[in-house]
Amino acid sequence: MASMSLLLVWFLLFAGEMMSMGNSFHKGHMIMEEEELLGLFEVMGALLEDPYWAQAHPQPCTDTPWPGVECEVSSNPLMFHVTKIHIGPELVSPLSPCKPSAHLSQSLLKLKYIKTLSIFNCFITSPVTRPKTIFGPFSYLEHLALENNPSLFGEIPTSLGDIASLRVLSLSQNSLQGNIPSQIGGLVSLEQLDLSYNNLSGQIPKEIGGLKSMTILDLSCNAIEGILPYSLGQLQLLQKLDLHSNKLRGTIPDIGNLKRLVLLDLSHNFISGPINETFSSLELLEYLLIDDNPIKGEIPHFIGKLRKLKSVSLSECELTGPIPYFFSTLKNLTAISLGDNNLSGSVPPNLGSLPNLDQLNISHNKLSGVLQLPYDFMQKLGRRLDLRGNNELCISDQPKMNLSSYLEIPSCLNMRQRNDNYFAGGPLEDHSGIKPSWYDSNPSSCSSWSNDLQVILFTLVLNLVI
Ligand SMILES: *[C@@H]1O[C@H](CO)[C@@H](O)[C@H](O)[C@H]1NC(C)=O
Ligand SMILES: *[C@@H]1O[C@H](CO)[C@@H](O)[C@H](O)[C@H]1NC(C)=O
Ligand SMILES: *[C@@H]1O[C@H](CO)[C@@H](O)[C@H](O)[C@H]1NC(C)=O
Ligand SMILES: *[C@@H]1O[C@H](CO)[C@@H](O)[C@H](O)[C@H]1NC(C)=O
Ligand SMILES: *[C@@H]1O[C@H](CO)[C@@H](O)[C@H](O)[C@H]1NC(C)=O
Ligand SMILES: *[C@@H]1O[C@H](CO)[C@@H](O)[C@H](O)[C@H]1NC(C)=O
Repeated sequence: MASMSLLLVWFLLFAGEMMSMGNSFHKGHMIMEEEELLGLFEVMGALLEDPYWAQAHPQPCTDTPWPGVECEVSSNPLMFHVTKIHIGPELVSPLSPCKPSAHLSQSLLKLKYIKTLSIFNCFITSPVTRPKTIFGPFSYLEHLALENNPSLFGEIPTSLGDIASLRVLSLSQNSLQGNIPSQIGGLVSLEQLDLSYNNLSGQIPKEIGGLKSMTILDLSCNAIEGILPYSLGQLQLLQKLDLHSNKLRGTIPDIGNLKRLVLLDLSHNFISGPINETFSSLELLEYLLIDDNPIKGEIPHFIGKLRKLKSVSLSECELTGPIPYFFSTLKNLTAISLGDNNLSGSVPPNLGSLPNLDQLNISHNKLSGVLQLPYDFMQKLGRRLDLRGNNELCISDQPKMNLSSYLEIPSCLNMRQRNDNYFAGGPLEDHSGIKPSWYDSNPSSCSSWSNDLQVILFTLVLNLVI
């Protein structure tokens, strides 16, 4: 970046000027280095369905542009360089622009000035052959995104760690396996690391904790095991930490210094409690999602100090004790999910005073007593209020409101009688329409992708080889 002063103006702004300059040169005079231009043709030829791309775009930086290629101009010597290649379905919507045998050409190495390489939905059916050093000596590459390429198999190459200029690395939704290489600790400029929805295993390398500029770390939906490295607590700029749906164990390390954290998703792992009180200093936290981990114990009290919380999800955490009253002080809460625990006591009526609460799931616990949530609140939530499976909970329902059958909890008037019929599997146990649509977009779910994967994975055994 520093040594070669690229003028930060996209080629379109310059196109007019350069064309007139070009005209004043001999016809055919290069405004790109020949090697770089041929390199681009080879890279595109290896990827794209269109066999005539090179003929149709002989001057891709000027006269014959293509939406996925961007260039910048260097001043001395005055020269165009390819700085961005983006291949994605939107270019030939709705299909991929790539050919079935698409692969990464070794000629990528000739594009020495490339800053952004993003390839989405391209490697779908065919083996991806790997030129060994393809991600070696790039000196300007800042943004590398290979996403949603189901036939991109193989391991993350250790040589990726040499690209010290890299700020964004996203390899999500491919079929990568093996460990996350510790060399990733060499990506000293990295701000975003997304390796989600692959089949990565092994442990989280502790070297990740040295990447001090990191704001987004997403390793969700893999098969990563072991403990959460203590060094994660050093990523002080981190805003999003998503590790859901892995095989992580042990306790959560002290992350009280991650003062900018907005989202923490550790759900669907084997992480145990107790959660350290230092969590209370995560002042910006909005999403705390820990479902399906053996946390045990009571709902931690520090949660009451997280003033910005919008969503708390602690279902299937083997929690005991009461639902604390402090939830009603967290005015920005929109969703509370505490289902499938062993919570006891009554349902705090003041939950109904939360102005933005739109989902309350306290199903399958041991809650008891007369439900005293305000009627308006229950009406507003509808099916997004889930109280089922709390055998000792009843509702003092006026017959015309009919809430009892709607909520699938017994009326206190005839609780004993209802209990006998209903919980023996009577006609009210009709679950149709119970799952509201918001649940489908639950950020903690891997299932849609794994279903896709299962369809696609059988196709070929491919050797990625970036
Ligand atoms: C994931 O990798 C493991 C080996 O690490 C392998 O046994 C398994 O079949 C892979 N799963 C998928 C969906 O590729
Ligand atoms: C919580 O973290 C602090 C700071 O790392 C540590 O001193 C303390 O022992 C931890 N507490 C528990 C209960 O683990
Ligand atoms: C609640 O949300 C509103 C709007 O997003 C925001 O302005 C306000 O600061 C939040 N309250 C707290 C306590 O963070
Ligand atoms: C609730 O506690 C009982 C015993 O106290 C235990 O058998 C059961 O597994 C617990 N249920 C959940 C969902 O944690
Ligand atoms: C409530 O949470 C449980 C899991 O704890 C889930 O099975 C159920 O579908 C949820 N209810 C709603 C309405 O989403
Ligand atoms: C009350 O619920 C019963 C059974 O679900 C239903 O048949 C009846 O129409 C409902 N009444 C009202 C007023 O909604």
